[in-house]
Amino acid sequence: MVTTQNAVGRFITVEGIEGVGKSTNLSFVANELRRAGHAVVESREPGGTALGERIRDLLLVPDTRIAPLTELLLMFAARAAHLEEVIRPALLSGKWVVCDRFTDASHAYQGGGRGLPAATIDTLASLVQGNLRPDLTLLLDAPLKVAEERQAGRGHRDRFEQESLAFFSRVQKAYLDLAAREPDRVRLIDADRPLAAVQEEIRRVLAELN
Ligand code: TMP
Repeated sequence: MVTTQNAVGRFITVEGIEGVGKSTNLSFVANELRRAGHAVVESREPGGTALGERIRDLLLVPDTRIAPLTELLLMFAARAAHLEEVIRPALLSGKWVVCDRFTDASHAYQGGGRGLPAATIDTLASLVQGNLRPDLTLLLDAPLKVAEERQAGRGHRDRFEQESLAFFSRVQKAYLDLAAREPDRVRLIDADRPLAAVQEEIRRVLAELN
């Protein structure tokens, strides 16, 4: 799939609720691609630029009230900077971009979790992204109980991590709905298995991209 008219690199995103092993597997993806000879840029959302990281800090401070639409607009403000400064230039110069979360997270968290209409999110996505979409999204999924247990030992909880189990259940469902709707792009990976099995599957999925 072509992400932008001129892009030569590929755009891969990693998604999933907290505690499913996103960070470990993101590094794995980046290393696999480097081993295959690609120049890789690793990034994350919200964040990835100086401004985006400051917006991230605002979004994650615990015990702050941010209305759902404000939260969504901040996510897209950070995304606009990230696309402009990092993602588009990297893709246009032939680099592969591996990003920890992107617009699917807005559908899952602000759509599923906060209840904002999908049409609102789609409107912002077309404004900010134009026709750019990930070529591949790895959706790591594990039962909420497993994800919560893995997360429990981490101590400090940010504003999202403070949310209820019901919130994460809606987020997870929204992610699974996205995978059902776009099975070619969004590849569902069962993360409730030993890491070696998860990474073997990721390796197979990545091989299909070449
Ligand atoms: P992270 O801790 O996984 O890096 O992500 C930070 C939080 O931001 C995480 O709880 C999910 C949330 N998020 C959204 O709610 N909407 C978005 O569009 C993005 C990119 C992240």
